[in-house]
Amino acid sequence: MKRRTIGNVQVGAIGLGGMPMSIEGRPDPQRSIETIVAALEGGVTLIDTADAYHIHADEVGHNETLIAQALATWGGDASGVLVATKGGHQRPGDGSWTVNGDPEYLKQAAEASLKRLGVDAIGLYQFHRPDPKVPYADSVGAIRDLLDEGKIRLAGISNANPDQIRQAHEILGGRLASVQNQFSPAFRTSEPELRLCDELGIAFLPYSPLGGIGKAGSLGDTFEKFALIGEAHGVSPQQVALAWMLAKSPHVIPIPGASRPASIRDSAQAAELTLSQGQLVDLG
Ligand SMILES: NC(=O)c1ccc[n+]([C@@H]2O[C@H](COP(=O)([O-])OP(=O)(O)OC[C@H]3O[C@@H](n4cnc5c(N)ncnc54)[C@H](OP(=O)(O)O)[C@@H]3O)[C@@H](O)[C@H]2O)c1
Repeated sequence: MKRRTIGNVQVGAIGLGGMPMSIEGRPDPQRSIETIVAALEGGVTLIDTADAYHIHADEVGHNETLIAQALATWGGDASGVLVATKGGHQRPGDGSWTVNGDPEYLKQAAEASLKRLGVDAIGLYQFHRPDPKVPYADSVGAIRDLLDEGKIRLAGISNANPDQIRQAHEILGGRLASVQNQFSPAFRTSEPELRLCDELGIAFLPYSPLGGIGKAGSLGDTFEKFALIGEAHGVSPQQVALAWMLAKSPHVIPIPGASRPASIRDSAQAAELTLSQGQLVDLG
């Protein structure tokens, strides 16, 4: 698979999003392991997860544990795989998502993620979402401390606006490696953040790049242009969507979610799909 860079680490241009394997509607663990292994076999070397990808209150880190299990059972070289996790969201078990950007909480959460992933240092640790009750600088300060202490190798943020990206980059002393924001044919309002990352040389990881769980399968019905271009190339509209965002900047690394091996096998092939200039203009 073609490669892109996060910080000083090279990864396949298409990552895997782990969320559908651990939240509402998740498959049995065996199918999830097969999905992760299919991604690895397809050349995926970036796996995105979070401690909050779980359903019940007593299974924090459900998705991190699945990924650690899949990597342990996979026959390939797991040392070349970057696992990107996050802290700052919590799920109390009633279906809701809450935020916690308290610096001490974030440090404890990172320690717990590190243990679940079974590593000495987390490959990429991302502050999941700004907490309106905590100054952003304090939350990002915790991520900087984790980086300085060697608990995490790379630092990222998520759900950030341009001011927060600049602020985090400064607090981290120019070491902000990635920004993960929602971006898809249906949701394009993160274009300013994408452009800023391109300018600063920071990896931009579009999340829910196919429109999100439950909507991804019908992307071609909702956005006919992606379906028509897919037909012209003999590929799925989902591959066209991923190739379209890859073409926006060499710093873009989409992380499509999957709970079935076939989905990620198909998505992974978008790394090799080149759209014409005319097609890119048409898609916007
Ligand atoms: N930072 C944040 O706040 C945040 C928020 C949301 C998501 N995320 C991250 O971003 C990742 C991706 O977002 P998402 O999972 O919400 O949405 P998504 O990637 O837009 O859609 C996921 C769904 O797409 C389907 N799919 C994947 N590839 C496909 C293909 N080639 N053809 C047809 N269907 C395909 C999968 O179906 P199957 O399940 O049937 O395989 C999966 O359920 C998440 O997994 C998570 O890691 C981060």
